[in-house]
Amino acid sequence: MNREEQMQFFYEIFDPSLPRLGPGDSASTKRAMNMVLSAASKPGPGRLRILDIGCGNGAQTIELARRLEGNITAVDNHQPFLDELRRRAQNAGVSRKITTLLRDMRALGMEGETFDTIWSEGALYSMGFQEGLKACYDLLVPGGFLAVSELCWFKPDPPAECQRFLAAEYPAITGINQNLEFMRACGYEVIGHFALPSSSWLQDYYLPLEERIRSLRERYASDPERTGMLQSIQTEIAIYRKHHDYYGYVFYVMSRP
Ligand SMILES: C[S@@+](CC[C@H](N)C(=O)[O-])C[C@H]1O[C@@H](n2cnc3c(N)ncnc32)[C@H](O)[C@@H]1O
Repeated sequence: MNREEQMQFFYEIFDPSLPRLGPGDSASTKRAMNMVLSAASKPGPGRLRILDIGCGNGAQTIELARRLEGNITAVDNHQPFLDELRRRAQNAGVSRKITTLLRDMRALGMEGETFDTIWSEGALYSMGFQEGLKACYDLLVPGGFLAVSELCWFKPDPPAECQRFLAAEYPAITGINQNLEFMRACGYEVIGHFALPSSSWLQDYYLPLEERIRSLRERYASDPERTGMLQSIQTEIAIYRKHHDYYGYVFYVMSRP
């Protein structure tokens, strides 16, 4: 497979019909939203301007739209995810609040101090976490909020197998305290943080993904490259099942003073 075929197959695995495209769940989105709402000292000047970066097929976008009175700009670089988000928003009766935007998050080309709240679940790493924090700081109005989930170590000295896997898959992974330092160094005030429960990896993300892998294994049984790609995702899932005490996603909520 050349690079383009690999990407095509990647998107065949991560089909827009999956419930979501990364670890997370609606209870965690709501919990982070409550942290933002209780930290907001006074109501904003009308409808909130919200940016959802790496929105995927919109699991969190729909939650935000249900709860908040505002305009959400939902950005992703894969149009089929945005199309699915639109369908879901229509079904949920919130499409008037959402504008989808096909764009690379590393080249948003937006004016500074434009948004009251920026949201990004399991996606800011594509920009580089620290670079993403800086970019969001510039895009937020003073007093605005950033809520972001990021993969982190929960405790030191992970087993060698887990360490090796993450060093290869996400070498930038670091601990919670280091991430809090990055945020403060950027100028944010940290409001709070919490770890996503392991159910938000398994129920809402990995189990449906495993189901999809099973059906693709049958379809591509005689194709070693494609089954190899499927196997590497299966390995990722097995590592998480075995070592989830050591790492996971943490939701951080902060504000630009
Ligand atoms: C792990 S998924 C998370 C999606 C969604 N937030 C969720 O939790 O279900 C990461 C998302 O970021 C998008 N993405 C990755 N790189 C991107 C980039 N450079 N620009 C815009 N979107 C990107 C992917 O298409 C995908 O939808």
